[in-house]
Amino acid sequence: MKSFDVVVIGGGPGGYIAAIRAAQLGLATACIDEWKTADGKPAPGGTCTNVGCIPSKALLQSSENYEHAGHAFSEHGIQVKGLSLDLAQMLKRKDKVVRQNNEGILYLFKKNKIAFFHGHGRFAGGSAGAWTIKVDGKPEETLTAKHVIVATGSVPRALPGAAFDNKLILDNDGALAIPEVPKRLGVIGAGVIGLEMGSVWRRLGAEVVILEALPAFLGAADEQVAREALKVFTKQGLAMHMGVKVGKVTTARDVKVEYADSAGKAQALTVDKLIVSIGRVPNTGGLDAAAVGLKLDERGFVAVDDQCRTNLPNVWAVGDVVRGPMLAHKAEEEGVAVAETIAGKHGHVDFNTIPWVIYTSPEIAWVGKTEQQLKSEGVRYKAGQFPFMANGRARALGDTTGFVKFLADEKTDRILGVHIIGPMASEMIAEAVVAMEFRASAEDIALICHAHPSLSEAMKEAALAVDKRTLNL
Ligand code: FAD
Ligand code: NAI
Repeated sequence: MKSFDVVVIGGGPGGYIAAIRAAQLGLATACIDEWKTADGKPAPGGTCTNVGCIPSKALLQSSENYEHAGHAFSEHGIQVKGLSLDLAQMLKRKDKVVRQNNEGILYLFKKNKIAFFHGHGRFAGGSAGAWTIKVDGKPEETLTAKHVIVATGSVPRALPGAAFDNKLILDNDGALAIPEVPKRLGVIGAGVIGLEMGSVWRRLGAEVVILEALPAFLGAADEQVAREALKVFTKQGLAMHMGVKVGKVTTARDVKVEYADSAGKAQALTVDKLIVSIGRVPNTGGLDAAAVGLKLDERGFVAVDDQCRTNLPNVWAVGDVVRGPMLAHKAEEEGVAVAETIAGKHGHVDFNTIPWVIYTSPEIAWVGKTEQQLKSEGVRYKAGQFPFMANGRARALGDTTGFVKFLADEKTDRILGVHIIGPMASEMIAEAVVAMEFRASAEDIALICHAHPSLSEAMKEAALAVDKRTLNL
């Protein structure tokens, strides 16, 4: 029996970061993770590292390079002859990037003196201050823990009657490893995965059709951004059908999806591969939560309070397995906050300033409230907007799609939300997050010197636009 101050179940961004912070704070810490490589080796990092954030961004980058070489370089006076796609190499590179991240995390465990257990962790009894956790691995282990942090993440949701086989009906794992570019690719769900993975395979040559249940595109984004995005993605060749009702899915040599279109008319779509990206569900199945009475909420998430406390004393839960957005950085923030609270410090996550990014081209990023949210909450606000078309760096890049939009309180000028669709939006949004954390006004941003020429000047100009005084438009 090995005893620890903290045992973390799950080594994704929520779990491994919680373990590192707990160890930094002097707590004897263990982390259990069951993910393994094809040859059975430990692969910590969770969904994010293995089949999520990291491999998807690797393929987004590779496919964008391919698209630029084929379609954008000639405008720069660069002629590419005999361009061809080596998909096997592209996938190999993606796998290498993943492996580098797995190894980086194993190194961090060692460096921080975290005991890493490769295997399946589950509750096996105990009570406050002395929880018993079994690790079904090689060898089997029994651990006791003063504190347990559950960070078991999420798994993809399947369409009823259409189980994932990762040959024809693909989840995120399958969508990142299609061995040949499909001629016809169907995607169910125009959410983040659908748009990112649909973009990857379209750039590589697939005809992509996306079927979305909701009538409105990207409901969580600012409506103006969503409208612009729909226009651009459609122009790029993603065929988007909104407001559909997906029915029977049958597989033979290909996949047939029967659905009713937005007018209620029966339709069918036949594709070579089908990605199903209709959201994810919390992963609590293997925890033996019932053995200790760990409470789940009505949607199956581990029920937690604002500090990520569960109903059991000294048992905490973070990341995708609890309420809130399913984002790696949200999981990490919660992991750090819990470790600090356990160590007697003040742990806190500000849900109002969690940025969202969709890594399509153009990228979409936002933080804070959308215009439609402010309207429905009756908040009086001012909006300022600046298009990348009028930004010198964007013109030099040859990527002038989109705009930056600032929303600020009508009276106090405090920034309430920032929305970007355009090049490098993922990087630019950080300025808005910092500004909102420091409760900045739009004028604060407008008064700051931004380097020229840079995309970030569009942030300054949009902040100036709140006061109707843009300089370059
Ligand atoms: P996970 O990363 O799911 O990790 C949980 C870990 O726990 C896994 O390793 C699992 O094997 C292990 N585990 C589960 N149960 C047990 C058990 N009983 N015993 C031992 N181990 C166990 N988010 C972003 O912020 N940015 C992105 O760009 C982004 N891209 C994404 C792309 C895709 C295709 C997908 C699917 C997701 C993406 N996400 C992204 C979301 C992000 O991956 C998740 O929000 C994040 O991984 C959640 O972290 P977590 O630690 O809560 O869970
Ligand atoms: P999602 O919630 O982003 O999108 C799912 C979409 O599927 C929604 O638009 C929904 O209306 C639609 N849908 C649901 N049921 C349907 C049905 N039966 N038929 C047709 N459409 C249906 O979920 P997604 O894309 O699966 O991603 C899961 C999570 O992973 C996201 O919530 C996100 O938090 C995370 N993620 C984050 C990324 C990022 O930060 N860049 C990238 C990829 C994933």
